[in-house]
Amino acid sequence: KPDPKTIIVSNRLPVKVVRNEEGLDFQPTEGGLATGLGSIYKSGNNVWIGWPGATLESKAEEKTTLEILTSQSMYPVFLTDEDLELYYEGFSNETLWPNFHYFNQYSIFNEDTWESYKQVNQKFADAILSQANKNDTIWVHDYQLLLVPALLRQKKPDLKIGFFLHIPFPSYESFRILPFRREILLGMLGADFLGFHTYDDTRHFLSSVNRLAGIGNNHGIINYNNRQIMADSLPMGIDYDKYHSTASLPETLQKEVEYRTAIGSPKVMLSIDRLDYSKGIPQRVKAFEKFLEQYPEYQQKVSLVMIVVPSRYQVGKYKELKEEIDLLVGRINGCFGRLSWTPVHYFFRSYPLHSLSAFYRIAHVGFVSPLRDGMNLVAKEFIASKLEKKGVLILSEMAGASKELSEAILVNPNNQKQMVEAIKEALEMEEEEQIARLSVMQETLKRYNIYHWVDLFMNRLDHVKNQQLAQK
Ligand code: UDP
Ligand code: G6P
Repeated sequence: KPDPKTIIVSNRLPVKVVRNEEGLDFQPTEGGLATGLGSIYKSGNNVWIGWPGATLESKAEEKTTLEILTSQSMYPVFLTDEDLELYYEGFSNETLWPNFHYFNQYSIFNEDTWESYKQVNQKFADAILSQANKNDTIWVHDYQLLLVPALLRQKKPDLKIGFFLHIPFPSYESFRILPFRREILLGMLGADFLGFHTYDDTRHFLSSVNRLAGIGNNHGIINYNNRQIMADSLPMGIDYDKYHSTASLPETLQKEVEYRTAIGSPKVMLSIDRLDYSKGIPQRVKAFEKFLEQYPEYQQKVSLVMIVVPSRYQVGKYKELKEEIDLLVGRINGCFGRLSWTPVHYFFRSYPLHSLSAFYRIAHVGFVSPLRDGMNLVAKEFIASKLEKKGVLILSEMAGASKELSEAILVNPNNQKQMVEAIKEALEMEEEEQIARLSVMQETLKRYNIYHWVDLFMNRLDHVKNQQLAQK
């Protein structure tokens, strides 16, 4: 009998296939889910199932990909161009993503994308069933795969299934707008344990289950089809030691000197996000512009380094956002810039870990101001990288991370006046206070790190499973 293993399942694998002149290349995936879990899946006997990030053009390419990935404990689910257009760009990112982030004016409802979403969720379920043994634990991640838990449960009623949602679960008033809301909830209820980043996400989920599926709960315990299910909040942590130690590596320090010299500004503010309207990028740039206007003494004294990682570029709203950011950055640099000073250093690309770490190191202020975010790991990575405990975090209260990082300067990203004052406060904060605030946040992140998070998740899942057995 094989040892029990954990099968992690997400739309994207932590590695993506990139086609270049020499053939296929394999690179790390960006985004909180992949970077967060990337540290843990290799331990033990685990396998990660997901899409390898590109459509492959031949059986030979599929074979090479399969071989390389399986040698690293990954198992690919190949998606077609049509799957990507309808399931990924369509239902996942033009229906669920905007709805769950309260951008309902961006949500598109379409029967074809829903059909594809169901089919691709089935494809994932089949791939899992082909790999799963009776005693394995299945851990399904995120909004692209909401139907997978129930599809697995239908085939294997006793399977141990956990689910974690990495984005917000919206209030009933937003969720009820979705045409396929009930099917989605019943899909999720195939899991034994459902985890969310915050207490509010859990509460919203339970309320929708109650009001749309007529299933009540007792402190997060749901009884459905004679099976006990649990929902609870479990804020995701980071691999604290990895970020902390990378910040002192010679490679990082070398980059730090290079970047500091090139930027030249006495003070640096930093933001790092995927290109996404949920991240509040235009609002942040406008607040910085307003700050330079209102406090001209800071001109030539501070620069905003803004890294925007390309993401979901085929989706219309993302393309529009890119154009908006390009215009705004052009406007502010054109208006305020000098030969010796660039107000906004804007990079539309991704960076390897050492470079990110060097950026975290040079930043006096981490400026994280999403309009809505499930968690936001960048905020946590910034804190972990501050070895001297000097630096200030400005953090949106709409990010899940704000629930844990209350020593940050918390802002409502829609309140420009407050954002402007927060920038000033951050730049003027005494070192002693910076150290005091950062120390508290570092302690929290060190303790509630990614390993702790995985342990908690698995403990809850085991607990529910034991309760179910006790009831039989
Ligand atoms: N990131 C990355 N490469 C980059 C920029 C960012 O891998 O060039 C990582 C970053 O370190 C973080 C993740 O992408 O771990 C972003 O996660 P977050 O939770 O902040 O936002 P998400 O993208 O999941 O919405
Ligand atoms: C967020 C989502 C992840 C997703 C990532 C990158 O972190 O929660 O599920 O993988 O963004 O987005 P992408 O569409 O490129 O996978």
